[in-house]
Amino acid sequence: MDNGLGLTPPMGWNSWNRFACNIQEDLIKDTVQAAKSLGLDRLGYVYINLDDCWQKSRNKYGYIVEDKKAFPSGIPALAEYIHDQGMKFGLYSDAGLFTCQKRPGSLKYEAQDAATYKEWKIDYLKYDNCWSTLEPVQHRYQTMHDALNKTGHSIFFSMCEWGVQDPATWAPSIGNSWRTTGDINPTWKSWTSILDANDKWWQQAGPGGWNDPDMLEVDNGRMTFAEQKAHFTMWCLIKAPLLLGMDLRKISKAGLEIISNEGLIQWNQDTLGVQGHRVYQEKVESTAVSPSSSPLLRQRRLDGSMVQTITESESELEGGGGDGLIEVWAGPLANGNYAVVLFNRGRKPHSITADWKDIGLPSAQAMKATDVWKKQSIGTFASNYTAMVEPHDVIAIQLEPAFLE
Ligand code: DGJ
Repeated sequence: MDNGLGLTPPMGWNSWNRFACNIQEDLIKDTVQAAKSLGLDRLGYVYINLDDCWQKSRNKYGYIVEDKKAFPSGIPALAEYIHDQGMKFGLYSDAGLFTCQKRPGSLKYEAQDAATYKEWKIDYLKYDNCWSTLEPVQHRYQTMHDALNKTGHSIFFSMCEWGVQDPATWAPSIGNSWRTTGDINPTWKSWTSILDANDKWWQQAGPGGWNDPDMLEVDNGRMTFAEQKAHFTMWCLIKAPLLLGMDLRKISKAGLEIISNEGLIQWNQDTLGVQGHRVYQEKVESTAVSPSSSPLLRQRRLDGSMVQTITESESELEGGGGDGLIEVWAGPLANGNYAVVLFNRGRKPHSITADWKDIGLPSAQAMKATDVWKKQSIGTFASNYTAMVEPHDVIAIQLEPAFLE
């Protein structure tokens, strides 16, 4: 949408993935302080967004009222606090009668709610799609778009319509971002499936409007370090909104290291705004589960006999969408650079080759390569680059044209 916002994907924190409805004023203030003391605001994570459950009712004039127990000082005071800390503030509502958690929705109250957001100086609106009526999804989102526009107040409009009705055909003119799928979970299986579903829309993304494969799950759940690193790498490459979802007050060292990778954040915030996409795929392992190659647990049936099952844990060897595949994902950056990811979705280490012809580069072009995780230059290559990649892991490479002296 052309409202001057979202020229690069939004970056910040949202309450839902970790806290769901358990949100209140002190948690949000502590999150702001944590974000600042961890230096996340300086890295670009500036939005602090409340998700579902901040609202409770409407007053007799129809204006939305916050949950006063959870937010005793009120939402306007919280907005002021967040702004005073140099950050931006986002709220959540729904294009239906209720939000997904049965709080009041905005349907038929669009103008009043947009006026409230202006008065409260809200910077970002996530707009969900529960409890809808028969009115088509496009109309319901268009109505809020128009109401927001009419106030003259700038607000990032994040459409959470879950990818229904082919959003690529209508969402880019209405929102600054639009969800392409259902909800993410903190598992390898969940985010890899979302990654695949989101990929087909890569040409729709660009400055002002982004595909949204949902918020980050780094530091949530039980994924391995490599899996979380892969998740963050891919979200940066595909120009996803970078909305953190962990408890920032207790973030792990590993989680902080992952989300603070400046080279990857630069990919995400690159001004060219082209969504990286899959350029190569090869099946290298059978997905059939065999006792010798898979993490099987022997379990006793209730009747006492033995049965073998795959472990339920989100271990590094858990299968997912694209199990047993090796892939190359890539996209151009400003200044003739390229972002390239070697992605191993298999259960064993594999050698993966990024071929210039798949990336869209002339074969003879010499490119200087930097490993974005090791943060070191790895030499100059023509035609292709090959490396061994660990299971459920990535190697992230930035290529820069090497000009002969
Ligand atoms: C569904 C959305 O997809 C989630 O991100 C979250 O906002 C919940 N609704 C809140 O109820």
